[in-house]
Amino acid sequence: MVRQLLYMSVKRIKTGIPGLDGLIEGGLVQGSVNMITGSAGTGKTIFGAQFIWNGLQKGETGVYISLEESPEDIKEDMKIFGWDFEKYEKKGLCKIIYHDPAQVNNLSTVMTEEISNVDANRLVIDSTSVFGLNIENPSQIRRRLFGLASALKKHTDTTAIIITEIPEDSKALSRWGVEEFVVDSVLILNYLGIGEEYSRSLMIRKMRRTDHGKDIYPFEISNKGISLGTPKMNL
Ligand SMILES: Nc1ncnc2c1ncn2[C@@H]1O[C@H](COP(=O)(O)OP(=O)(O)O)[C@@H](O)[C@H]1O
Ligand SMILES: [Mg+2]
Repeated sequence: MVRQLLYMSVKRIKTGIPGLDGLIEGGLVQGSVNMITGSAGTGKTIFGAQFIWNGLQKGETGVYISLEESPEDIKEDMKIFGWDFEKYEKKGLCKIIYHDPAQVNNLSTVMTEEISNVDANRLVIDSTSVFGLNIENPSQIRRRLFGLASALKKHTDTTAIIITEIPEDSKALSRWGVEEFVVDSVLILNYLGIGEEYSRSLMIRKMRRTDHGKDIYPFEISNKGISLGTPKMNL
C-alpha cells in the first residue's frame, strides 16, 4: 500500500528508448538529474539525443547543451536515425547549443536561460569530461559540478541527463569522481570485446525512488537509434 502510494506520487518521464522504460518503473523521475557514463563510442550522445527526440514526438520541449561537438555536427549525425532536430528548433520547441568549455564558469547561468527560453521538459549536457580543460584545480571542478547539479535540481519540471566520458578500462564511474554523488541515477554504457565479438550493454547502477532492473542489458544501435534486448545471463 505504502509502496503503491509512492509509485503514484512519482511522475515518470519516458525515455522512449525501446526496452528501457520497463526496467525503471516507466521512466526517469520527473525533475531528476541522471548521469550516463561510458567510454568513447559507447552511445552516450545518441542516448541523449534520442531522449530529447522522443520527448519532442510527445509534444515536450528540450535543450541539448554540447561542450564538445558542434550543434551542426550533432544534427547532421542524428539525421541518420531520422531525427530532424532543425524542424523543432524552427518551431522554438528545442535548442541544440554549443557551450565553450573555457566558459564553464557560466554554464549554470546559460543553462537556466536556455531552459526558460523553451520551457524545457528535457535537458542534456554533453559532457562534463571537458570541465578540466580550463579549470586546473580538481576541487574547483567538483565545486562547479555541485553547482551545476544544484542549479538543475531547482528546475523541477526539467528532467536532465548529464553525460560523462570515462577513459577506456577505467574503473571509475565518472570523469571527476563526483558526478555520481550529485545525480539521482547512474546508467553505464559499455562496449566490450569478448574474443572477436563486440557487444554493447547497459547497466543501471543506481536510480533513486526506483526499483530498477539489476541485470546487464545488451543493446544495439541501429538506424533507429538505441534499443535494449533481454539480459545476458552468463556475463
Ligand atoms: N547508424 C548506426 N548504426 C549502428 N551503429 C551506429 C550508427 N551510428 C553510430 N553508430 C555507433 O555509435 C557510435 C557513436 O555513438 P556516440 O553516441 O557518438 O558515442 P559517445 O557519445 O559515447 O562517444 C559509433 O562509434 C558507432 O559504433
Ligand atoms: Mg559523445
